[in-house]
Amino acid sequence: MKIALLGYGRMGHEIEKLAVSRGHTIQVKIDNEDEWTAKTAFLKECDVAIEFTIPAIAISNIKRCFAVGIPVVVGTTGWYEHFGEVTELCIKMDGCLFYASNYSIGVNVFFEINRKLASLLESYTMYKPAMTEIHHTLKLDAPSGTAITLAKDMISANHNYTGYTVGTTEEGKIPVTSVREGNVTGTHTVSWTSDVDQITITHEAYNRLGFAIGAVLAAEWVYSRKGVFTMKDLLSL
Ligand SMILES: NC(=O)c1ccc[n+]([C@@H]2O[C@H](COP(=O)([O-])OP(=O)(O)OC[C@H]3O[C@@H](n4cnc5c(N)ncnc54)[C@H](O)[C@@H]3O)[C@@H](O)[C@H]2O)c1
Repeated sequence: MKIALLGYGRMGHEIEKLAVSRGHTIQVKIDNEDEWTAKTAFLKECDVAIEFTIPAIAISNIKRCFAVGIPVVVGTTGWYEHFGEVTELCIKMDGCLFYASNYSIGVNVFFEINRKLASLLESYTMYKPAMTEIHHTLKLDAPSGTAITLAKDMISANHNYTGYTVGTTEEGKIPVTSVREGNVTGTHTVSWTSDVDQITITHEAYNRLGFAIGAVLAAEWVYSRKGVFTMKDLLSL
């Protein structure tokens, strides 16, 4: 496949290495607005675009892909409040959008286990949940997007909980602790504790390659499809 790489930062570099090793061509790399001016014409020569940029720019990049009729695999987070209008536009323009707040296959399986565990424990109120997420010190947001997804999934699967708290405890809320240390790529632990035992599940990412693998697999899967998709579709979860 001919791939357009929209955003050539940490994830862009990781995706380039992996995509080339799988026999794909990086047809164009665009890393800022000046490069858009110079390289827009190359976009329509591509089979698919992979977008890892910044929240403020993601939507305009998505629209550029719709305009030339190529599928776009979006990794950028932080634009989901506009999700409704973007998916509407995708359908209207007969486009293709693949999005995920976390492209790691392991994390997406972890999401499923987390939902199931929360649901199984709904009737056993002696088990109390808690979550810890650990990331490197350069990460600016807390809790992580993945932790928020985990908490939201727990709340929708277990109606004893209506929200989450950060750094404090409150009845009916899941306490989330964010730790920033060293070079940690991302570790998420969910525990359910009673007076007599504890169930703990943990996902630990070793590096960014796991995100790149998911994004490139998504690009290969989405090629020649139309519509709006996410990791549940790719992994048949
Ligand atoms: N979904 C996932 O699995 C996943 C995994 C890792 C990171 N992310 C998200 O992906 C995004 C990028 O992460 P990163 O670590 O690569 O960040 P980064 O800061 O290393 O790279 C972002 C790149 O976007 C470029 N950019 C800025 N404006 C642009 C424009 N108009 N057009 C094209 N490129 C532009 C910047 O120059 C920069 O190189 C973030 O939102 C991050 O939270 C998602």
